[in-house]
Amino acid sequence: MPAVETIEHDVIILGSGIAGLRAAVEIKRKYGDKINVGVISKLHIMRSHSVSAEGGTAAVLYPEEGDSFALHAWDTIKGSDFLADQEAVWLFVKLMPEEIRLLEHWGLPWSRRPDGRIAQRPFGGHSHPRATFAADKTGFFEMQTLYNKLLEYDGWERYDEWFATNIVVEDGMFKGLYAINWRDGQLYYFKAKAGIIAAGGGGRLYNFTTYAHTVTGDGYAMALRAGIPLKDPEFIQFHPTGLVPSGILITEGARGEGGYLLNNKGERFMLRKDCAPTKGELAPRDIVSRCEMKEILEGRGFKDEVSGLGYVLLDLRHLGEEKINERLPAVREIAIRYAGVDPVEEPIPVRPAAHYTMGGIHTDMYYRVLDENNRWIRGLFAAGEVAAASIHGANRLGSNSTAECLTSGRLTGMLAAEYVLRGAEAKTPSPERHKQEEDFVWSLLKRESGTPSYEIRRGIKNTMGEYFYVFRDGDGMRTALSKLAELRKKFFSEVYVEDKSGIYNTDLQAALETINMLDAAYAAVKAGYERTESRGAHYRLDYPKRDDVNWLKHTLVLRYGDGDVRLTYTPVDVSTYKPVERKY
Ligand code: FUM
Repeated sequence: MPAVETIEHDVIILGSGIAGLRAAVEIKRKYGDKINVGVISKLHIMRSHSVSAEGGTAAVLYPEEGDSFALHAWDTIKGSDFLADQEAVWLFVKLMPEEIRLLEHWGLPWSRRPDGRIAQRPFGGHSHPRATFAADKTGFFEMQTLYNKLLEYDGWERYDEWFATNIVVEDGMFKGLYAINWRDGQLYYFKAKAGIIAAGGGGRLYNFTTYAHTVTGDGYAMALRAGIPLKDPEFIQFHPTGLVPSGILITEGARGEGGYLLNNKGERFMLRKDCAPTKGELAPRDIVSRCEMKEILEGRGFKDEVSGLGYVLLDLRHLGEEKINERLPAVREIAIRYAGVDPVEEPIPVRPAAHYTMGGIHTDMYYRVLDENNRWIRGLFAAGEVAAASIHGANRLGSNSTAECLTSGRLTGMLAAEYVLRGAEAKTPSPERHKQEEDFVWSLLKRESGTPSYEIRRGIKNTMGEYFYVFRDGDGMRTALSKLAELRKKFFSEVYVEDKSGIYNTDLQAALETINMLDAAYAAVKAGYERTESRGAHYRLDYPKRDDVNWLKHTLVLRYGDGDVRLTYTPVDVSTYKPVERKY
């Protein structure tokens, strides 16, 4: 293998979804040619998973109609089951309205009210309609708008289809990262004064997920391997309306526009006393998903004979064809194509699908990456789903995620640029580091026979789906941990990458992603196993109550030894609203 070549930028951004692009736009529009930016992604920009976001982006746009920052903050904090850091939430809600207006000025075709003003729709757990939308293709239009905006500027370079393998943190500071360029099959070192990790989530730790096959928890795993803590990875969101049997997202906007959830008795079970009698289908996602699973497990659901999956029904028929075509065109198309069901005529089969990781890289409210003692790792920021500031705590409200991608992208772009302009220097890693990275990557090509990585990947997904889904318990999580440890052992003793070439070696990329999935899955389950309470999306049948006395704190997970982890904890900021029982 040739020597590892170095590429240098002032700021490198890992990930080209909404958060990564928003960060790049912020740097370019505010600092122009003073800052040179590299945007690295394992995909082409417009294939980033953010394009799949459907239903809306939360912001307070109409205070004169009764909405307010205080209400948005309260809804978010209550939705989080009081694990959100409250100062971070306040900053978020205050920044959001300007983001919507900026996107409007940059050309985003928001859906409109009859009077021409920007329309907003209701979303679960929000006390006002504040999900700002462009039909049910919001993420696509946000991506297209940001990408178009970024193309106005010079002084940035894109590295599409480059696969990042590790982040380099030494002496308490960020130094750079390694990535393979699939076009020439070589490993490169990106040296930079500042880095923004915006690598997205980990939905593909599960079989039944709304996420693209590319979303494999890479950012979480790279952080762990670099000695960076993951905060609260046990909190994984299951979106109530994953289309059966594929898991494709049927937006919450469908319920926001008035859709009902029905069991096999034709009952709107969400209105029952044991579910959410006041909010019904628009309760927060953790509650709706639990109620759906209860229906399915107690025999009031349906069963898909081919996949064996249980489901309930999402009924949109009463909305009428005109409204469905105007507000939910993608839902109609997806249901027809992937389930053979036209929602104008028939209800849609749905069940909870892995959708979002509330936890992520430990950051402060400005998205500066922190070590386990809450000290900034100089030069390093994280934005979007991969980051945990933490706004969403134990359960995120729908439409707060694309919103956070925008605010965290903006903040990290600005802070990274200012850090560089204050005179930060790019530092070279220790001499043995390149060799270590080459071994990590290329040793996977050495074995001449063995187990393909997709078999191990299947084992991870089956384990997560069986033991770490909507309902969990201690025995199940203990089993999951031992299965994941076995899969890791199997990977490193047996994995076989058949394709030995460098160029576009998707077999090698799949193996590297599988290591990431092993790291990310183990951290999440271990954190869940240790948290002996139920809070938000982490619901334990053996500890069904929230326990603020012992567990009103964030988990921090750190790498320990070869693939194991250790846990520590850090306080939650409850400076504005004291925790109360959540009722909807
Ligand atoms: O249902 C949806 O459209 C998803 C939105 C979100 O996760 O914020």
